[in-house]
Amino acid sequence: MKTSKISVTDYHQRSKHRLQQYANGPDGLDWASQANPFREFTGCLQIALPLATQQFNTRFADLYQRNTVPSATPDAQTIGALFELAMGLSAWKVSGHTRWALRNNPSSGNLHPTESYLITTGINNIAAGVYHYHSYLHCLEQRCAFATAPPADSLLIGLSSIHWREAWKYGERAYRYCQHDVGHAIAAFSYAAATLGWQVEVLAPCSDQHINTLLGLNRSDDFNNAEHETADVLLHIHSRAEHTPVNIDELASRAQQGNWHGQANCLSPQSHIDWPVIDDISHTCIKPQTNSERWHPPQLPDLISCPSTAQASSIIQQRRSAQAFDGISTLPLENFYRMLDCVLPRQNTPPFDSLLCAPRIHLVIFVHRVAGLESGLYVLARSANGEKNLRENLSADFDWIKADTTAEHLALYQLASGNSQNAARVISCHQEIAADSVFSLGMLAEFDSNIEHTPWQYRQLFWEAGIIGQALYLEAEAANVRATGIGCYFDDSLHEMLGIENTSLQSMYHFTVGTAIMDERLVTEPAYIHLKNRN
Ligand SMILES: Cc1cc2nc3c(=O)[nH]c(=O)nc-3n(C[C@H](O)[C@H](O)[C@H](O)COP(=O)(O)O)c2cc1C
Repeated sequence: MKTSKISVTDYHQRSKHRLQQYANGPDGLDWASQANPFREFTGCLQIALPLATQQFNTRFADLYQRNTVPSATPDAQTIGALFELAMGLSAWKVSGHTRWALRNNPSSGNLHPTESYLITTGINNIAAGVYHYHSYLHCLEQRCAFATAPPADSLLIGLSSIHWREAWKYGERAYRYCQHDVGHAIAAFSYAAATLGWQVEVLAPCSDQHINTLLGLNRSDDFNNAEHETADVLLHIHSRAEHTPVNIDELASRAQQGNWHGQANCLSPQSHIDWPVIDDISHTCIKPQTNSERWHPPQLPDLISCPSTAQASSIIQQRRSAQAFDGISTLPLENFYRMLDCVLPRQNTPPFDSLLCAPRIHLVIFVHRVAGLESGLYVLARSANGEKNLRENLSADFDWIKADTTAEHLALYQLASGNSQNAARVISCHQEIAADSVFSLGMLAEFDSNIEHTPWQYRQLFWEAGIIGQALYLEAEAANVRATGIGCYFDDSLHEMLGIENTSLQSMYHFTVGTAIMDERLVTEPAYIHLKNRN
């Protein structure tokens, strides 16, 4: 792959949507070249996984109290539940002759660029090796069998992206959406693991070269004419705080010496329109091995109580993006505060214990209809440092009135009062869902000059935003409302509204929550109806 040099800042500026002009993308959609959403490797041993999520009756509320959920034993049943809850299908939608699958993890445009892998040192019925998860067949494809099992037990998840799946529709901005989707997938694994009494941790020091070797992404003959996958992240799954550290070099060397199988399928039958800037920024953001220091979140009071008594698997599998909101209903204040409380990192609490770095994303909230809270523009700082940064860089005209909440630790401030529906709609590429909701928000990242020295951190900012998004998606379901991620927004319109005059704070993602109006024309079919005779 030949690439040209591009800086993070140049890519970020270039991929902004602006009121006057959207970022470079295709003029229309070439349906013939849309990528197959299901990657498979032909010629591999397939291990069918049970569809067994209903057997785990952890309550959603208990996910946040790890000690109350006993650790399940890793086996085909629990690994099946882990992958199904994180990356499996959630339903089929049918409209006339068109039928498409939805998944438990959301994805921009439902294009699902993220692929997932299991790396195991051997568990019951799953031999030591590397496996690709095939979400349509709910099975593992054995890519690599380790010749000998490594000495220490490890269970890892690997994520990679097929950028073309998103670039087909979104052109140059697609790289951002792929990173958001990785964030959602990290959180989806974190919640799925918590349902089984396990914990997920991003293996922060690991390099992309490690990931390429372990997942076999650098085995060019196995991809031949098929679309390549780009390394994203490795997740360590474990059951206790004191666990054996992962020896990545050891695992990578087993993978190098292992027996590899399988040929990746070609996803687009037609030739592609190229978006070279995506390869360029991807190259700029390659991560070397690092010595990341573990970050410890501050001690916070217990979470505001959960409004739902439902099972975790039900909340996870019922999650959907709203396509329209009623524009009338209000959200109880307690539920609003609970959602904000859930996006603060806490020790041993999913999903933020998966990414152990200090929060760099803060929320600017358009409050439309929260009972007992004046409509207007609010800000939630997710760290003390973030609050300082916001105070220094937002317009000096803002009020900064601390919200009168019983949850004192929420650094929630009213910046201005009044109806902000129109501003929210316009900033979110004129999408009504940002205005008809009970609240919508923008995620402001601490985006400083350091990013050019550690460009791979650009990816992590989107991941953090995606993790916040996944927490909001599930919390919305638990509060009997619905959410939608918003990747289409006019970046600088938000910055201008807030009086931000430099690049110290940049908007990375938007989100909206409200009472959904269902599209009754769509028929819903069960997720694994095509496998009903298998188990
Ligand atoms: C990163 C990201 C950006 C998204 N942007 C938008 C958006 O701008 N507008 C919208 O209506 N939906 C948006 N969505 C919602 C997706 O369209 C939705 O996740 C996808 O269609 C799958 O449906 P599901 O979430 O119900 O499973 C976004 C989702 C993600 C994860």
